[in-house]
Amino acid sequence: MYKINKIAATGLALAAISQAATVSVDPQTEFQTYDGTGCSEAFERSLYVHELDAAHQTEVLDLLFTEKGAGFTIFRNGIGSTPNQNSDFMKSIAPKAPASNDSELNYIPLPRNDQYQGWLSKQAKARGVNYIYADAWSADGYMKTNNTDFYGGQLCGVYNTSCESGDWRQSYADKLVHYIQDYAAQGIHIDYVGFLNEPDLSTPYASMEATGRQAADFIKILAPTLEELALTPRLLARAGQAKNLGLVTSHGYSSYPGAPFKTKLKTWQTEWSTFDPLNYNWYTAGGAQSDGLTWANNIRNSFGTSNVTGFLYWWGAAEKNDTNEGLIYINTTSPEVVRPTKRLWAHAHFGKQFIRQGATRIGATSSSANLNVTAFANTDGTTAVQVINNGDASQQVSIELPNLSGATVATFFTNQDNDLLEGTATVGKAGKKAKATVPGRSLLSFYVSGGD
Ligand SMILES: *[C@@H]1O[C@H](CO)[C@@H](O)[C@H](O)[C@H]1NC(C)=O
Ligand SMILES: *[C@@H]1O[C@H](CO)[C@@H](O)[C@H](O)[C@H]1NC(C)=O
Ligand SMILES: *[C@@H]1O[C@H](CO)[C@@H](O)[C@H](O)[C@H]1NC(C)=O
Ligand SMILES: *[C@@H]1O[C@H](CO)[C@@H](O)[C@H](O)[C@H]1NC(C)=O
Ligand SMILES: *[C@@H]1O[C@H](CO)[C@@H](O)[C@H](O)[C@H]1NC(C)=O
Ligand SMILES: *[C@@H]1O[C@H](CO)[C@@H](O)[C@H](O)[C@H]1NC(C)=O
Ligand SMILES: *[C@@H]1O[C@H](CO)[C@@H](O)[C@H](O)[C@H]1NC(C)=O
Ligand SMILES: *[C@@H]1O[C@H](CO)[C@@H](O)[C@H](O)[C@H]1NC(C)=O
Repeated sequence: MYKINKIAATGLALAAISQAATVSVDPQTEFQTYDGTGCSEAFERSLYVHELDAAHQTEVLDLLFTEKGAGFTIFRNGIGSTPNQNSDFMKSIAPKAPASNDSELNYIPLPRNDQYQGWLSKQAKARGVNYIYADAWSADGYMKTNNTDFYGGQLCGVYNTSCESGDWRQSYADKLVHYIQDYAAQGIHIDYVGFLNEPDLSTPYASMEATGRQAADFIKILAPTLEELALTPRLLARAGQAKNLGLVTSHGYSSYPGAPFKTKLKTWQTEWSTFDPLNYNWYTAGGAQSDGLTWANNIRNSFGTSNVTGFLYWWGAAEKNDTNEGLIYINTTSPEVVRPTKRLWAHAHFGKQFIRQGATRIGATSSSANLNVTAFANTDGTTAVQVINNGDASQQVSIELPNLSGATVATFFTNQDNDLLEGTATVGKAGKKAKATVPGRSLLSFYVSGGD
């Protein structure tokens, strides 16, 4: 025992005298504009949150949408397509097929307030969420080539489809518009609307396939339908008709963030999680795909390497047997349980407490291969620098900025035992550097305010 202690002490002493690594932040190098981070509660997870008692409900909502937790500012809803009103799947507002593609759709009110997604959207907006994004996984079955909203198939009327029932593009566009109006009637403005989820997949739940050309064939109809009604939501899709699109989205599951998309449009990574057994850890020996630290890197690499302007985890809060699809585990059975995973705290470093809508990502490079970094300049003059130490050893880190004279440099530290633990960095006499220790396998944010 004694020997082990001595080795540890020696290691610490060495770390203390080792040269500090430098993270150079260059406000003159400007990259993309930050829109925010977010999550979804689609497929009835909003209902689970609604079922919690008032205290637990507030806890979950605050953990997701305020500075007490992730600080999300984007919320993604699912637009239902399933006719069965008793199922867990996302229910349609036009479940019954009309007489023909020329008939008005048979609308019903948003089923159970859209599985409480409407209610949750209001809760999110009340906590400062900036963007409500509504996305349809599929058109209704009667509008599609294979007569079900499940198992892929295409929208009737787009390129290379032939349906006896005719062309349903206008009906689908009308339905999306009706949904947007239903939300508007509740005082919820939908900022972005999408009409596909994963167009290359056929799944045993709502899914609709489309090539870029087929998507463009629908956008031709949807864009003027939105415009006619003077609706402001902007379209969102993965391909085609770029002039009508507000932004381009992608999912992280099977394609790890790499080179930026070849587009001038903003890009959001809108859905990603893992499916392994529930993991609350920040770091598991050897690293696990669902660790908080892994997600800190996933988010950093999405903003810092892939040039995304928005990053959304899949669910915010979900049940235990939903595996790691959620960031917070909730159990509505008495006694109720709400427990955030460490992935939530990884997101918090990239949330609104440090980076606000309209911030610019700026240049940041580190002198150590173990340190992966990003920096964002907020429009109010504050700067946030995220430093991930992927090495085992603790590291002294100096951030360099042109002028730190008179600035306050706070630090926020997350690892297995700490969530955004607040501290202070030491600003050097020349006002060019601020120094703090970043322990092994941890994430520390520098937050610079005041000064020049
Ligand atoms: C719907 O079409 C997809 C292919 O586009 C096919 O894989 C699936 O089996 C079809 N489903 C039904 C119920 O026919
Ligand atoms: C049209 O769809 C069929 C399947 O229904 C497919 O085999 C074919 O390659 C498609 N053609 C084009 C030009 O996309
Ligand atoms: C209904 O389908 C027919 C046949 O494809 C098409 O000519 C017609 O324009 C469609 N109606 C509407 C309202 O899109
Ligand atoms: C990054 O995204 C922005 C839009 O947000 C775009 O204007 C810019 O060209 C992209 N940069 C690269 C390197 O792809
Ligand atoms: C939810 O909590 C109840 C009561 O504590 C417990 O029996 C049950 O196993 C929990 N469910 C899950 C999925 O963890
Ligand atoms: C969770 O697991 C239990 C027991 O296996 C099952 O009865 C329940 O339907 C599952 N819940 C969800 C949301 O999958
Ligand atoms: C950290 O950055 C280096 C250099 O860009 C990269 O090779 C490495 O994959 C990154 N680490 C993680 C965990 O993403
Ligand atoms: C640095 O910022 C301080 C505080 O705003 C200011 O007084 C000082 O003039 C600045 N120094 C330089 C070299 O820009």
